[in-house]
Amino acid sequence: MEEIANEDLYLSRMSKPLQEKLKVAKYIPRGAKTVLDVGCADGTITIALAEMFPEIKFVGIDLNRDFIELAKKKGERLKNVSFENVYLRERLSGKDRFDVVLFCSVLHEFYTYGEGISTVVKALADAHEILKAKGTLIIRDMILYNYASQSQLWLTEMIEKVKGKNDVKILFFDFEKIFKEVVNVKRLNHFLLKYMYADNWDRECRENYVPVSFEEYDQIFNLLGMKVLFQRSSTIPYLKNKWQTDFAFTDDELESLRSTGIIVARK
Ligand SMILES: C[S@@+](CC[C@H](N)C(=O)[O-])C[C@H]1O[C@@H](n2cnc3c(N)ncnc32)[C@H](O)[C@@H]1O
Repeated sequence: MEEIANEDLYLSRMSKPLQEKLKVAKYIPRGAKTVLDVGCADGTITIALAEMFPEIKFVGIDLNRDFIELAKKKGERLKNVSFENVYLRERLSGKDRFDVVLFCSVLHEFYTYGEGISTVVKALADAHEILKAKGTLIIRDMILYNYASQSQLWLTEMIEKVKGKNDVKILFFDFEKIFKEVVNVKRLNHFLLKYMYADNWDRECRENYVPVSFEEYDQIFNLLGMKVLFQRSSTIPYLKNKWQTDFAFTDDELESLRSTGIIVARK
């Protein structure tokens, strides 16, 4: 995995939308005893969930050793949380099986820093294998619908507004060099999820934030024989406000953009 230039900045950015991310808590089924949090970073989410559910045992895993060391320190006061610096795959050789597997803001990184869609498919197949019978898989990430790649409604006007800001226009051209011309709302939406990270632009611009659509996740779960129980596409209020302030988008234009997807599937 590519080195993170400024780990502190990366972690503080990650933990900012904590309250938003903690909404995953409501998809943890009653009676669950164990949760595996894949790609837990410094454990911010894992620890907050462990505090909310003292009766559940949480295990957080991440590839980044420094993050796991931090997580261990932060979580040492709690009895129901532990952290390991391992790949999900390595965990399969052990005996533990989980009631819930959580992927919070990680699968787009698996895609970008792994081998694309095959890494995501493998991760979900591994998650399927490490779940108990009838176990629950929860994904929270930036996820868009494929149909947004057909949509061109208001596109020209929106691009004009975005390019009307000189500092953003430069980033927009960088983005087009990597992800091709912005010819649909989905690509514009992708750009709008990242232009605010100019301070770490080399890494952020290249990262594919929305590599797997809702429709593709459906196909993967279908192949794995898992039932999708819940799917939601929404926009974090903070981002909606930011887009409105930065570009004066109309309500219709804003309505065509999304930031967050949640998928809950059962084995
Ligand atoms: C964007 S952070 C998300 C952290 C946390 N889940 C959250 O939502 O705040 C992504 C994390 O996934 C980890 N990661 C990326 N690829 C991974 C892989 N193949 N296995 C385990 N962790 C991975 C990274 O090290 C990073 O800590």
